[in-house]
Amino acid sequence: MEQETILILDFGGQYKQLIARRVRECQVYSEILPHTTPIAELRARAPKGIILTGGPNSVYDPASPTCSAELFSLGVPVLGICYGAQLMAHVLGGQVAPAMTSEYGGTALFIDGNDSPLLTDVPEETTCWMSHTDRITSAPSGFTVTAHTPDCPIAAMEDRTRDLYAVQFHPEVVHTPEGATMLRRFVRQICGCQGTWQMSSFVEEQVQALRQRIGTKRVLLALSGGVDSSVTAALLSRAIGQQLTCVFVDHGLLRKNEGQQVKAIFGLEGDFDLNFVGVDARDRFFTALKGVVDPEQKRKIIGEQFIHTFEETANQLGEMDLFAQGTIYPDVVESGAGSDGAVIKSHHNVGGLPKGIRFEGIVEPLRTLFKDEVRELGLELGLPRALVYRQPFPGPGLGVRIAGEVTPEKVRMVQEADAIFQEELQRFGIDTGSGQFFAALTNMRSVGVMGDHRTYDYAVALRAVLTSDYMTATAARLPYDLLDACMTRIVNTVPGVNRVLYDLTSKPPATIELE
Ligand code: XMP
Repeated sequence: MEQETILILDFGGQYKQLIARRVRECQVYSEILPHTTPIAELRARAPKGIILTGGPNSVYDPASPTCSAELFSLGVPVLGICYGAQLMAHVLGGQVAPAMTSEYGGTALFIDGNDSPLLTDVPEETTCWMSHTDRITSAPSGFTVTAHTPDCPIAAMEDRTRDLYAVQFHPEVVHTPEGATMLRRFVRQICGCQGTWQMSSFVEEQVQALRQRIGTKRVLLALSGGVDSSVTAALLSRAIGQQLTCVFVDHGLLRKNEGQQVKAIFGLEGDFDLNFVGVDARDRFFTALKGVVDPEQKRKIIGEQFIHTFEETANQLGEMDLFAQGTIYPDVVESGAGSDGAVIKSHHNVGGLPKGIRFEGIVEPLRTLFKDEVRELGLELGLPRALVYRQPFPGPGLGVRIAGEVTPEKVRMVQEADAIFQEELQRFGIDTGSGQFFAALTNMRSVGVMGDHRTYDYAVALRAVLTSDYMTATAARLPYDLLDACMTRIVNTVPGVNRVLYDLTSKPPATIELE
């Protein structure tokens, strides 16, 4: 079946990923392209519709991103949002000028008339999210004004005969309560999409595409056990089986039993058809980390040791043609790479492409997917739910959850304490999906008593933060009984630990991890 696509032209707006997300929520594939994409390429992609994003510029500035009038006569419906709306007005002969009052935030929106295909189903009076200084002052000929706000006479306009629609506000953000309805109407009714984008069809398409691209070549994947690399492994396994070799480096800084779980899923006994090479590099990492206390130094050592171990292993495996990575769509967008540019996940535990090995190219089969789509794909491919919904875990692993020097003893303490914390979170029915919940080991030792003995042991800090973007976070208000149960179990069963603290600090000023 032919794939329905909505193309999103990027004019620098901060919400472009959200627009793509909303379109996919309508079961329609969407892709963000630079605004400089040639018209011929847009045409060749045969989109069902095009959306122009917002952006920080003013259409009158000659240096501002623009588009040709041809874009509006492709015979494909176009929706302009914010800057995209102003650009549509400007290019088609309307007028845009600085507004008397800039509008930022929630604003009352009044629908004018009741027959707009975009605004049908929207109550006559609602609210919308505005963020602009310029505004459209005169609609191009052929356009009808379909909504206004107290300060913006042309908040929405359309030319139904040419299927051109423009909104000054942001329908993609949740602060525009009817926004999802409007986008859905654009995608489904105006563009006529059926909504055929489904994970099962994605698997079929990707398996075919990967087979065609890879042919008989051999592919190497660094498998960390995290969601992205695991789903990449499962998908490549489905497509090319034994042509895929996964190298899993156990650096000894994983969560309790994580190494065994990865082996159980992907190793010889597991369900996936691939070559699995597990490397026990624990001693090597602990030796390299001996005596090192500086957090950045620890990160650097872990990254370097990882690359060295990986390269040595890969070189022993003989020639590999392609290198696979679990790059996902937010990585592509954040790195600013175009639709074909390869992305190196520098913040990822792989630390970028191994420089000591030569590859013909990179395979990134998840690069069009959002995180929740990657999870859905993982389930579709038969990965266990516990792996697919695993909490994010930093590349340097427990190395950044142990303050000061990393030793096997400290790793054991933090692994045990963390396992207890996870069990109790589950027992108390806490939803951990919206943040990061883990145990860390402080570098503080203090005096305690156990039976008749004095102890001089470490303090574990429990960390539970709620976050949506990982840039800011607040401590979760966990039930006291849960904390109490963790404290009792940890001090009673984890040798070397005699205190349990709860870290209340938000980010900023703290970070999520300890180091
Ligand atoms: P911080 O501690 O900076 O963490 O508030 C924000 C998010 O990034 C993760 N994190 C890392 N991930 N390598 C990674 O791959 C790292 O060195 C690293 N440091 C922090 C952290 O788990 C959180 O999700």
